[in-house]
Amino acid sequence: MIIAVDGPSASGKGTVAKIISEYFQINYLDTGLLYRALAFKTIKNYKTASLKNALKVVNGLTEDDLSDPQLRLQKFGEIASKLAKEKQIRDALLAFQRNFPNQSNGAVLDGRDIGSIVFPEAQIKLFVTAKLSVRALRRQKDMKRMGQNISFKDVEASLKARDHRDINRAIAPLVCLTDATVVDTSNIPFGSLKKEIIEIVEKKYKSLSLGSSE
Ligand code: C5P
Repeated sequence: MIIAVDGPSASGKGTVAKIISEYFQINYLDTGLLYRALAFKTIKNYKTASLKNALKVVNGLTEDDLSDPQLRLQKFGEIASKLAKEKQIRDALLAFQRNFPNQSNGAVLDGRDIGSIVFPEAQIKLFVTAKLSVRALRRQKDMKRMGQNISFKDVEASLKARDHRDINRAIAPLVCLTDATVVDTSNIPFGSLKKEIIEIVEKKYKSLSLGSSE
C-alpha cells in the first residue's frame, strides 16, 4: 500500500504523513528533505548551489543525509525549491523515492509530486492545504524553535515565492489531483485532524479491498 501526501510548504502534510505512518505502522519518507539535503550538501561541498555542483552530489545522497535538523532552515528550503525546478535533479532523485517502499510492505511519502509523478499508481492520495497566513505563522514558530527569528512578513513572502515556483514550474508542478482527497488543516486541532485522517484512509482502504474481491 502506497499513500501519497502532497501539498504546499507548511500545509501540515508532514503531520498528516506522520499520523498515517504511526497509526498504520508503515514507513514514512519526507521527500522535501531529499531536496533540502541536496541543497545542504551542495553548499557544504562546493559553497554555491549551482546546477553543475548539485549534479555532482545528487547521486550520492543516502538516508543518513536526511537527519540533520539544519535541513529545516529557511535558506535550505529556498535553495531546494530552486534546484527542484531542474529535470536532471528530479530524475536523479526518482529512484531513491521509488525504492523507498521496497524496504517494507508499503509506505507513506509526502512532497509535491508524489501522487502525480513518483507514484501515480498510489492507492491513496491526499492533498493537504491551509491558508497562507496560517502556514506562515506555523513556519515562523518552527523557525523560532530553531533559533531563527524571522518576521511574519518575510516568512509569508518566502512561502509565497516557493508556492509560485512549485506550482508554476514546467516539470512536476504541485497540483491538486482529481483523484486526491483534499484535507484543509487551517482551523483543525490535532486530535480532530488525526481522527479525520484515519477515517479517510480506513474508508479508502475498505473500498479498495472490496473492489479487488469482486
Ligand atoms: O517540503 P519542503 O518544504 O521541505 O520541500 C522543500 C522544497 O523541495 C519545496 O519547496 C519543493 O520545491 C521541493 N520539493 C519538490 N518535490 C517534492 C518535495 C519537495 O519539488 N516531492
